[in-house]
Amino acid sequence: MNKLDSERIADALRRAGHMEAATPADADTVIINSCAVRRRAEQKVLSRATQFSPRAAKDPGFWLGVMGCFAERRGVLLFDDIPHLRMVVGPRRQDEWPRHLAEAEKGRVLAVGEPDGPDEPNGPSEPDGPSQSDGAAIPAVGVPRGRPARVQAFVAAMRGCDNHCAYCVVPQVRGAESSRPPREIVNEIRGIVQAGVREVTLLGQNIDAYGRGTDTDLASLLEMILTHVPESEGLLRLRFVTSHPRDITPRLAHAVRDLAPRVGQHFHMPAQSGSTRVLAAMGRGYTRAEYDGKLAMLRECAPEALVASDFIVGFPGETEGDFAATEDLLARAKFQNCFIFKYSPRPGTRAGDQLADDVPAAEKSRRNQRLLSLQQAVGEERSAALAGTVQTVLVEGVSPRDPARLIGRTSQNLIVVFPPPPAADATADATAAAAAAAAAAGKLARVRIVSGTALTLSGVIEP
Ligand code: 5AD
Ligand code: SF4
Repeated sequence: MNKLDSERIADALRRAGHMEAATPADADTVIINSCAVRRRAEQKVLSRATQFSPRAAKDPGFWLGVMGCFAERRGVLLFDDIPHLRMVVGPRRQDEWPRHLAEAEKGRVLAVGEPDGPDEPNGPSEPDGPSQSDGAAIPAVGVPRGRPARVQAFVAAMRGCDNHCAYCVVPQVRGAESSRPPREIVNEIRGIVQAGVREVTLLGQNIDAYGRGTDTDLASLLEMILTHVPESEGLLRLRFVTSHPRDITPRLAHAVRDLAPRVGQHFHMPAQSGSTRVLAAMGRGYTRAEYDGKLAMLRECAPEALVASDFIVGFPGETEGDFAATEDLLARAKFQNCFIFKYSPRPGTRAGDQLADDVPAAEKSRRNQRLLSLQQAVGEERSAALAGTVQTVLVEGVSPRDPARLIGRTSQNLIVVFPPPPAADATADATAAAAAAAAAAGKLARVRIVSGTALTLSGVIEP
């Protein structure tokens, strides 16, 4: 969500006449987008931002801003934390960035909480074209102008969250759940696909709840997008994150199966814990048995789909027995991927304010390492089993780790790296690789898998 927000703001500022600097050192204004989900994320923002303080002290023409969830949570106090900070803007006020910059001429800007005006927090109502309003509203999200189109883009289907999991700061900083109208989402996707995007990921903290209280739902939205933005127009893949185990339904799983391969055969359905007792303390709204049931349902209704998960270790009161239940879930479920986090108490959340952070740091680290190594083994096993298969990969471009290879993803969200097609590889230098990548990016390639690590498969293009 933050990546998407950064892109939208950059786009809006460009449209308002600002220019992008090559490096932060060349910039007149630096705006840092921030996360508040864990303390470490906030500390990173503080250390990054204070690096700019000396320059802001010397140069009155240089402005420093912090936006995003930490800006919202910390509010006016950030001006004390970060010397010479000029702008603090929360997630619900970021559509007004061009105006904030204009106001910063006069002094400090603090914009947090709900917008006071009639601003549409979810963006434009007519994403087909530039907004007709005063320039403060942000037009269609998307492909930054004047730059080559990217293959992959995020589109917010929903904003906010109503779940209030005991540990989570998101509902506090991003506000209540709201779904954007389907027509608006379809228009936005059509626009970015015309500009060259080939894969769209719909975002929502709890995307299974899309359209709650209306006559539409996520399954209908997926179908509607695929119908209105056909493959011939360039939309090759459609994905969505994140699924809440409580709200995921057989209807959605069937839709994912039936809409293959354009709808990615992948679910991100965070479990957070394998222990019913901890799940209850987290306020997740399901038991371990219910999670197992949802997993079994997904595997029955959408057999091609892989499932990824998130886990938090060291939640207050998590015993050895509770942790063993999480290990058991992870070992049995054979997730495609797992994001594992050490519990970080967040002020203002139920767990942060009311429960003692009683699992020692060293024990959190041990549990974290243990789950990582369990998942590593699962990933390696999965990758080894894929050797010899041929996968259809949507090519994203040059691999950031190896400029001589291309990178892309399968419908199941597996990452694949492979050398560019032979003709373009003749000289195999960086220029040739870049040219091959430019030609291949955004297209589907058939790749034979040769080997793989837990997270990345390696292969060769099928002749
Ligand atoms: N501490 C640790 N991890 C957290 N997450 C959310 N809040 C916290 C917290 N306070 C994790 C959850 C969520 C992911 C985005 O971040 O696993 O799914
Ligand atoms: Fe946070 Fe829970 Fe909402 Fe996810 S579902 S954003 S973990 S409150």
